[in-house]
Amino acid sequence: MTAGGDGFAAVAGGPALHIPVLVRPVIDFLKVHDGGVYIDATFGAGGYTRAILGQANASVIGIDRDPNAIALGADLVQAANGRLTLIEDQFSNLDSAARDAGFDAVDGVVLDLGVSSMQLDTAERGLSFRLDGPLDMRMGGEGPSAADVVNAAGERDLANIIFILGEERHSRGVARAIVKSRAQAAIRTTAALADIVASVVRSRPGDIHPATRTFQALRIFVNDELGELVEALQAAERILKPNGRLVAVSFHSLEDRIVKSFLSRRSETRAGSRHAPELKRPAPTFSVLTKRPVVADAGEVAHNPRARSAKLRAAERSEAPARGDEPGLLPRLPALADVLKGH
Ligand SMILES: C[S@@+](CC[C@H](N)C(=O)[O-])C[C@H]1O[C@@H](n2cnc3c(N)ncnc32)[C@H](O)[C@@H]1O
Repeated sequence: MTAGGDGFAAVAGGPALHIPVLVRPVIDFLKVHDGGVYIDATFGAGGYTRAILGQANASVIGIDRDPNAIALGADLVQAANGRLTLIEDQFSNLDSAARDAGFDAVDGVVLDLGVSSMQLDTAERGLSFRLDGPLDMRMGGEGPSAADVVNAAGERDLANIIFILGEERHSRGVARAIVKSRAQAAIRTTAALADIVASVVRSRPGDIHPATRTFQALRIFVNDELGELVEALQAAERILKPNGRLVAVSFHSLEDRIVKSFLSRRSETRAGSRHAPELKRPAPTFSVLTKRPVVADAGEVAHNPRARSAKLRAAERSEAPARGDEPGLLPRLPALADVLKGH
């Protein structure tokens, strides 16, 4: 702890709303220092932001697309005495959000992907098959909901979404069961969808709930989580200072693959095979700091089971100018708007 003080752990107190994962490595890879400016692009319950503010006399721009997360951060904004700016936005806009807040370049960007425990534990968000609620799943509250997708999408689109984003082997059976069920009555609740999935996907004792993968797929699709991630990585490249740090914590293989591929392409110094003539390539914009992803140790997993699947990757920005869009990082799926046009 340095000049930042350690008063932040207690702010916005009460029981922990979300236990942050891999906090120490996040702070270390960000190289948090006095005078530094950091974007916490997934503010959530503010776990990383508290740690940054407590580590040094640094400033944080906290972003979250969930208005509830931003509202709950109000106490922390006050306690931070001008060192924390909270913005309700999607992290795909993190560079323009930071510029609008008066910061043209930053020392670090951190992304902690997925949903928070607060969101999962709120039945009205419709994110959990364990709690009955409306089949919503939107993190931000705007745009089409999971119920819109489930009740409108063609069977083939549904199967593809569930297979690709949920890695569900029984995706066709699930899609067929959804189409059959909605012909009787629209599917409106998480319990209704969980029951439909459980009628097709059998699970043995000790397995994850049969609806886990289908719910994950729909949540990722409804919130365009992978598209957001690609845009955020590119936005981070645009807003980071030379030597600034990018840290991304992901929770499933699709996200981790995107982070890994993006960083590997942006850090490549040569193109083509070693037998082919060398192609001219723009200078690398990042150097990778984590050859292998950093994972939680047994102690952290015992304390916070969510940490089990966390993978942290970090990279340092070079002086090279930011590049344009990096194609080919996303799985091939129809757009949400097209899916809603239906069968
Ligand atoms: C895993 S939680 C972050 C927890 C946080 N690190 C903490 O310590 O409390 C992820 C958060 O990111 C937010 N989020 C997810 N996708 C987003 C996006 N595309 N833009 C902005 N916020 C997003 C969610 O609303 C959620 O609050």
